Amino acid sequence: MTYRQKLYIRTFGCQMNVNDSEYIVGQLEQLGYSTTEDILKSNLILLNTCCVRAKVEQKIYSLIGKIKKIKESKPDVLLGICGCMAQKEKENIFERAPHVDFIFNPSQVNNLEKIINTVKYSDTKYISCGDALKFSLKHLPIKRESKISAWIQIMRGCNNYCSYCVVPYTRGPEQSRGVSEILSEVNSLAQNKYKEIFLLGQNVNSYGNDLSQSVTFSKLLELLNDINGIERIRFTTSHPKDFSFDLIKTIKNCHKVCNHIHLPIQSGSSKILNMMNRKYDIDYYMNIIKEIRNNIENIAITTDVMVGFPGETEEDFMDTLDAFKKIEFDEAYTFIYSNRENAIASLLPEKVPLGVKKERLWKLIDLQKEISTKINKKLEGKILEVLVDKKSKKHIENQFSGRTGNNKTVVFTGKQNLLGQLVKVKIIKSSPWTLYGELIK
Ligand code: SAH
Ligand code: SF4
Ligand code: F3S
Repeated sequence: MTYRQKLYIRTFGCQMNVNDSEYIVGQLEQLGYSTTEDILKSNLILLNTCCVRAKVEQKIYSLIGKIKKIKESKPDVLLGICGCMAQKEKENIFERAPHVDFIFNPSQVNNLEKIINTVKYSDTKYISCGDALKFSLKHLPIKRESKISAWIQIMRGCNNYCSYCVVPYTRGPEQSRGVSEILSEVNSLAQNKYKEIFLLGQNVNSYGNDLSQSVTFSKLLELLNDINGIERIRFTTSHPKDFSFDLIKTIKNCHKVCNHIHLPIQSGSSKILNMMNRKYDIDYYMNIIKEIRNNIENIAITTDVMVGFPGETEEDFMDTLDAFKKIEFDEAYTFIYSNRENAIASLLPEKVPLGVKKERLWKLIDLQKEISTKINKKLEGKILEVLVDKKSKKHIENQFSGRTGNNKTVVFTGKQNLLGQLVKVKIIKSSPWTLYGELIK
């Protein structure tokens, strides 16, 4: 009987972290591990962490605390903490949780063989939070979660230093992957019947700025658009300050590039945007939205927004509500400002009380819900093309879900297995977040 090592991995945070976990699992499978969903059956526990807001960090510390019991009853189990919180907290994690065995940061994600072989045979704690420079994913084994849609990191890190944000400190400076490396990866995904690629970067619009080859994000999209077999190209995130007219033209002209732009606004107040170091004001943002809508038909625009940034007055918040009413986003991810020690905004004195922040959050959520309801209602009766990517979560037999080009989730029933297919669905009913429809033959 061969004895297989079992890995339990839990991932927090953004798509970049989800994709990093796919690389972690890919490497560990080559080292003889298989994954388990049952933490009690594992002999290696990895938490791939996030620290963008304090709440997620608290949740992770509390989970680490609970794992102590498992370590007490099974001392051979190894516990590792990786991801952004590992980089932010470093040795503090050992101090707060001495039962943690090892820590590595996001730039060590391509180094699992060395890390695991070191910690397995060592009885001291191990930490690897080295430099993010010269990071490479080339030829790295990967175990993708989906066989239909594949995440592709086109760049890592961030140079923008928004005053509230920890990401530049956890993921280091921007580093773009070479064009030929990305193209060869996507070509091989197409050969393996992948239908969609989802390009990832903290700020995809600055793709190529750090490469010696002269290449822009638009150019990369054009090259990817020519790859046979791939039907859809998505990307996130775009920073408004770098959103070029050239990119608008490319999205319009490349038919595989989906009609969806995620463009974080963060605030509707120019005063707050300035304090956030976002490098645009609200007029500039509104103008991009206008250009996008004038040029690309049927485009969905989604956003990230924050309430309660230090110094945000009632008037500033009204500016955010006002911008939301004028723009009418398809969807918005709404956050309460969270103080992050590493980020400059933590030094700003005028903190907004939690009660006020919560009140503003709910006002904004309610407004957005009204807007999303209205936008989705208009789709009732329409026939939309859907890439089927999931069996319904509710486990109702033959219920599938997929997404339209402009990123609406559509739930419908089909007779045979439709996973991975592009189908036409007539929308019968809508909610602010989901559309329900009937499959058209
Ligand atoms: N690189 C992306 C997203 C980074 S994090 C971008 O530039 O848009 C995702 C979102 O989390 C951000 O857009 C922001 O709205 C939110 N966020 C980041 N730091 C935060 C903080 N300290 N408190 C609350 N929300 C935060
Ligand atoms: Fe954070 Fe701003 Fe960089 Fe986004 S662009 S990751 S919000 S610093
Ligand atoms: Fe979180 Fe790091 Fe992503 S802080 S949002 S996991 S880049």
